[in-house]
Amino acid sequence: MADANPRSTAVIGLQWGDEGKGKLVDRLAGKHDATVRFNGGANAGHSVVVGGKRYALHLMPSGVLSERALGVIGNGVVVDPEALLKEIDALSSQGVDTSRLVISDRAHVVLPYHKVEDELREAFLSGGAIGTTKRGIGPAYGDKVQRSAGVRMGDLTRPDVLREKVELACRLKNVTVQRMCEEAGLAPTVLNADEISAQALSWGERLAPMIDDTVYLLNTMYRDGKRLLFEGANATLLDVDHGTYPYVTSSNSSALGICAGAGVAPSVVGRVIGVMKAYSTRVGAGPMPTELSDATGDLIRERGREFGTTTGRPRRVGWLDLVAVRYSVMLNGADEVAMTLLDVLSGFDELRLCVAYNTPDGQTDRFIPDGARLSRATPVYETLPGFTQDLTGCRSLDELPVAARAYVERIESFIGAPISSIGVGPDREQTIDVSPGVGV
Ligand code: GDP
Ligand code: IMO
Ligand code: MG
Repeated sequence: MADANPRSTAVIGLQWGDEGKGKLVDRLAGKHDATVRFNGGANAGHSVVVGGKRYALHLMPSGVLSERALGVIGNGVVVDPEALLKEIDALSSQGVDTSRLVISDRAHVVLPYHKVEDELREAFLSGGAIGTTKRGIGPAYGDKVQRSAGVRMGDLTRPDVLREKVELACRLKNVTVQRMCEEAGLAPTVLNADEISAQALSWGERLAPMIDDTVYLLNTMYRDGKRLLFEGANATLLDVDHGTYPYVTSSNSSALGICAGAGVAPSVVGRVIGVMKAYSTRVGAGPMPTELSDATGDLIRERGREFGTTTGRPRRVGWLDLVAVRYSVMLNGADEVAMTLLDVLSGFDELRLCVAYNTPDGQTDRFIPDGARLSRATPVYETLPGFTQDLTGCRSLDELPVAARAYVERIESFIGAPISSIGVGPDREQTIDVSPGVGV
């Protein structure tokens, strides 16, 4: 049983992203001392609405809107300094205090050539493209793992080291970039090490006061009794090891990535809250067994404003895949689940829940974390009655219509984890706390 008042909390998406993690992190941040990003980069798009005002966060931990918590960008994040500075400026102009940010000196840097490579690879793959956010995420993690020319945030304050690494990277990359441009029929791009180093140094100058050893910082905070809030970016089914490979992102975006990506021991992660939409969405390519390519799907997309926070792309929409969510609950060890966007499902005669898959090898109630195999699975549905009441004003379980409660209860019993809160609108306040004291 989860501790009702744990010192640290993790918020992790249980589907393919955009579950409403940002809103939950914002709600929890006031009770924590630091909000910590441990994976991903500017591919994340977390939308938080406070008092009717919408904030879009990409690299900034969503706790930045709280007046208390420190924002920490951990070593496992890939940081695009240009995008981060733009975000800092945009938030500052909205009146947000962005001064409480610390960035790991070991976090890898996304440089302009990573975005060029991301774009080129997608163009080159054409029909087989992953549908990335083109934020340079895969190439930046690639350089980190390859170890030849990875640039870390600490290098931005060391001109000699930076220059040497960028020169080597440009030399290596110019060979393949030229070849790929030719093959893809695109105008040639030549990477210029002087230009890129100069740009990176100027970004480094502005960011230098925020760069530090976040591993010592977080472990010292923990030892001193402070509460840490780990904010997952992307989500479990996009995890490079456990998601629908190869249609995934390039980091461990489940709770399993926290220890390596923040530099903390497993015992530091107290409770895990999984975040789950009341239906499914996915951005980019890859299998999604419950996808709806019809008027019902269009209606859910419109009602849920299902357009990407980062790229503006329309999100693919489908019925809730409980097989997938139960897998994610297991993988993350989710102690509780925050359900979001239940209000969007108002107005349908019936609601469907995927409880198994039909596959060429027979029926299974296990998730299939493999892109090619999952693409051959078709959903087995259970059908429940729908509801018509507007839920956006509901603040307690009793106020929900009977059919909405039955929907929630069926989900809870299938996934085997308690649903501790239910989102009924984008605003911070539009939430039903099912188990007060546990949820927040
Ligand atoms: P994240 O990436 O997991 O932080 O999620 P996003 O911010 O990308 O997408 C979730 C979207 O749903 C945002 O536009 C939120 O403002 C919105 N949202 C979050 N919770 C709710 C909810 O309970 N109801 C409605 N209608 N919208 C919500
Ligand atoms: P948040 O944090 C939804 C998807 C992309 C693409 C795949 C790989 O807002 O939930 P990448 O640019 O990471 O190489 O793209 O992963 N993707 C997301 N989809 N929400 C996200 O983040 C995502 N981050 C990556 O659409 O299919
Ligand atoms: Mg998002």
